[in-house]
Amino acid sequence: MCGIVGYVGKHKVKDILLEGLKELEYRGYDSAGIAVLQEDNFSFYKAVGKLDNLVQKTADFNPEGFAIGIGHTRWATHGKPTELNAHPHLGESSYVVHNGIIENYQEIKNRLLADGVRFLSQTDTEVIVHLFEKYLKSEPTPFDAFKKTLAELEGAYAVLLATKSLPDTIFFAKNGSPMILGLSEDNEKIFASSDAPLIGHAKDVLYLDDGEYGYVTPTELQLFDKNDKAVQPSLSALPTSKLSAQKEGFRFFMEKEIYEQSVVISDTFLGRIQDTGIHFEELDPALFDDINEIKLCACGTSFHAALAASYLFERYAKIRSSVEIASEFRYKEPLLMKDTLFVVISQSGETADSLETLKMAKEAGLKTLVICNVDNSSMVRLADASILTRAGIEKGVASTKAFATQMSVLWMLSLYVAKKRDTLSDEEMLHQLQSLREVPNSVKVTDTLHEKIRRLSKRYLHGHGFFFIGRDVFFPLALEGALKLKEITYLHAEGYPSGEMKHGPIAMADPDLITIALMPKHMLYEKAKSNVEELSARDSTICAISPIEFDKADDFIKTHQRDHYMLEFFEMMVALQLLSMEISVRLGNDVDMPRNLAKSVTVE
Ligand code: M6R
Repeated sequence: MCGIVGYVGKHKVKDILLEGLKELEYRGYDSAGIAVLQEDNFSFYKAVGKLDNLVQKTADFNPEGFAIGIGHTRWATHGKPTELNAHPHLGESSYVVHNGIIENYQEIKNRLLADGVRFLSQTDTEVIVHLFEKYLKSEPTPFDAFKKTLAELEGAYAVLLATKSLPDTIFFAKNGSPMILGLSEDNEKIFASSDAPLIGHAKDVLYLDDGEYGYVTPTELQLFDKNDKAVQPSLSALPTSKLSAQKEGFRFFMEKEIYEQSVVISDTFLGRIQDTGIHFEELDPALFDDINEIKLCACGTSFHAALAASYLFERYAKIRSSVEIASEFRYKEPLLMKDTLFVVISQSGETADSLETLKMAKEAGLKTLVICNVDNSSMVRLADASILTRAGIEKGVASTKAFATQMSVLWMLSLYVAKKRDTLSDEEMLHQLQSLREVPNSVKVTDTLHEKIRRLSKRYLHGHGFFFIGRDVFFPLALEGALKLKEITYLHAEGYPSGEMKHGPIAMADPDLITIALMPKHMLYEKAKSNVEELSARDSTICAISPIEFDKADDFIKTHQRDHYMLEFFEMMVALQLLSMEISVRLGNDVDMPRNLAKSVTVE
């Protein structure tokens, strides 16, 4: 996820910007840049890759005295990680940095292009600075031009803009992406995407709300709310630890990542869910021409996303779908047919086994598609096409938000293919799109849910094992629930299809066998219920997760009534993530860095 910093003051502007960007590295990025305005002179620097590259480029740039500056670390969403696409973006006399996605950028860009504006980058962000400069010519003040620009932007943004017309001012706006303003005792103003860069510089902070905007100068802070009303800034004290600031108030990165799923899923949807179908700007629809099968391949959590997706592709797009564990696929001498689209799913884009299968598919002449969280990763570079999940960097070794965004992309992709193959009625498509829009809401963690799971977790620290069971897409979700538990609690857990228990594992049933039963209302509820009753009759300890009260369960996590099973899927996913995390906490384990595991497995 992109990171933003900004500075107005008389101290070492370059150092403050670069140190701030360094503190934001944990958010993930693939390029970085800064722009500094002193009197009438803008200096700017950009570099691809690590921040050190930018540090080297700016080695001889050492401005002294009063300056304003803006800086950015970019996590590519529109256009490759290149210097031209890196922020800040330049107009004739102004610079902008932006975090988020401008959903209607193409429409604005077309208008500006028709006016003769020249664009240098492929980003959505660049429209902001050109729009501003257009209004600079017609509006009475630069601030009016900024307001007029904001009024046209749709989507999510945190924006900082500096212009030669007012060389002591930074304009700012926040809507859906994080931005904080820190104030020092010296009246310096420092902007950042999270607390960490402000620690050691600012005394008080202003956590901006969505829709707020304004400007700062050395002597002023003007703030307006979403109704354009001038408001008094409400300042708070800063946290003191940088690590805890990076965790943004959460105990663990995993916890933070569970809580931010709603936001990253919204980011993943931006510009993709349209009125009558799904649009992937990065996909050539011809990718699906002459394709009769989709083969999905992945490891670990990404494999579970692949397995769930195979149900969706067959159900909605009526296309044969098969799923492979990458480490197995490599050596099974598979038959690869040219009418198969080979889809690899990977958070990191670097997992050795998955990468090898991608190479095999390419060598066999198959069309390939990668669903990945990291642009410019080995897989993204190798595949014919890629769709980026927009989860931002995931620090917890146990994957949470990456899985959530993979499932979001895969559900969208199944509908995209369905449209292409004309397998859903217009009415059914609209229902699916409407349900998709509800996903960010379905994954919001409520205090009630978290507290309930925290209390329940104390009952699950012993026993001779866990079975997570579910049917249909809830079977891969059960696998994922069991993997989460294994990874961070080190307790034995298995995921199983509910209907398979009677074919063997039910022999283990006794009070020390804990069954976590996924019982969604809208997917085979009665069937799942019978399977759980069979276990309950044999005295297994049952924790049921369902929107429907179930009196045969020892424990019950009640989910909301939702009208699509996929929304139940997403809500149950959150409950499973929280359950593993709370058990792990009680066992005193390292939640973010469990023993024996690495975040990215680049060896066979
Ligand atoms: O980066 P990838 O998605 O390719 O990684 C695959 C697995 O190594 C990964 O999902 C692993 O299972 C996680 N630790 C799961 O939490």
